[in-house]
Amino acid sequence: MTKRPRVFSGARPTGRQHLGNYLGAIKNYVALQADHDCVYCIVDLHAMTTLEDLHLLRAHTAEMALDWLAAGIRPADSIMFVQSHVPQHAELHTILSMFTPLGKLTDLPHFKDKVRLQPHNVNYGLVGYPVLMTADIVLYKTNLVPVGIDQESHIEFCREVVRTFNHRTGASVLVEPQMKNTEYPKVLGTDGQRKMSKSENNQIELALTAAETVNVVRSMVTDPARVRRTDPGNPDVCNVFALHKTFSTPAAVQEVGTGCRSAAIGCVECKLKLAENMNSGLAELRERRAAFAARPDDVWDILRDGAQRARALAAKTMDEVRAAIGLP
Ligand code: TRP
Repeated sequence: MTKRPRVFSGARPTGRQHLGNYLGAIKNYVALQADHDCVYCIVDLHAMTTLEDLHLLRAHTAEMALDWLAAGIRPADSIMFVQSHVPQHAELHTILSMFTPLGKLTDLPHFKDKVRLQPHNVNYGLVGYPVLMTADIVLYKTNLVPVGIDQESHIEFCREVVRTFNHRTGASVLVEPQMKNTEYPKVLGTDGQRKMSKSENNQIELALTAAETVNVVRSMVTDPARVRRTDPGNPDVCNVFALHKTFSTPAAVQEVGTGCRSAAIGCVECKLKLAENMNSGLAELRERRAAFAARPDDVWDILRDGAQRARALAAKTMDEVRAAIGLP
C-alpha cells in the first residue's frame, strides 16, 4: 500500500462549535480523511495561553470532541486526541525552543496582537505559542496542515524551525509541512458584519435544536438598506443569502435571490426557508451528536485511544530527534 500523506491540524477547545468552525475547518477535516492519514488534535495547552477560566477546559474539550465526531471524524481511520495527553508535545516544544531566536517570536503579528488584547496576561506561553504549534506538527512528520489564512505566519515559522533544526543537526529527521489554506468564503455572524465567533456572540451553534435554529436565524441582520417589506433588497450584502448558498439548492438560491431583488419575498420568509434547509442539512450531524452525547464516557475513551496511538508515533519521532541532536 502506498503511504498516504499525513495531515495534522489542531484547534483550541472553545466548546460547542458553530457554523463558522464547521464550514471553515471541520468539514474539511472530515473530507481529508478520504485520502490522507489524519491526526486531529484538541490543543488544550495552547488554550491555556488565553483562557481566563481554566475550569472550562474539560467541558470545552468534551463539547468540541462531540462536534468533531458528529461532523464525521472517524476515530477508526483518523487519530483524534487531546494535546496534553501526549507529553511529547511539551517535550519537543522545549527542545525546539533552543532552535528559535527570541526576536523572531516577539516579532510575530499574533504575539503583538495578544500583547495588545491581554496586556494583563503576557505569559511566557504566549511567546512560545508558535514553538508548541511547531512541535504539534512535526511530531507526526506532517505533510499538510489545513488551516485558515490567519495561521500562515505560524506555518511559515514552523518551516523555518524545521530547516534550522535539520541544518544544525545535519540529520533531516524533521519534515517541512505545507500549508493547505482551507478558508471558506468568510462566514459572518448573525450580525451580518463580523466574522462568526463565540467572542462576538454572533454564532450559530451546530448543536442547536431545530426550534432554536429558527429563532437564531430569525434574529439575523439582513440588508440594512431594506427597511420595509416592500423595499427591494440586495442579496449580495445579505448574510442570510450567503448562508442560503451553503444550505439551499441552486434553484432555491436563485429563487430567494430574485425574490429579494424584486421584493417578492420578505426577509422573514427568506429566513424561515434558510432555517428549514439548515435544519435538514444538519439533521444527520445532530442525530449523531445526540447519540455520542448520551455516552460521554465513550467519547473520553475515543480520545484516550487516540492519545495512545499518537504517543506511539510521537515517541518514535522523539527518539530520532534525540539521536539527531546527540543527547546522551
Ligand atoms: N494556532 C491554531 C489556531 O489558533 C491552533 C493550532 C495549534 C494548530 N497547533 C496547531 C493548527 C497545529 C494547526 C496545526 O487556530
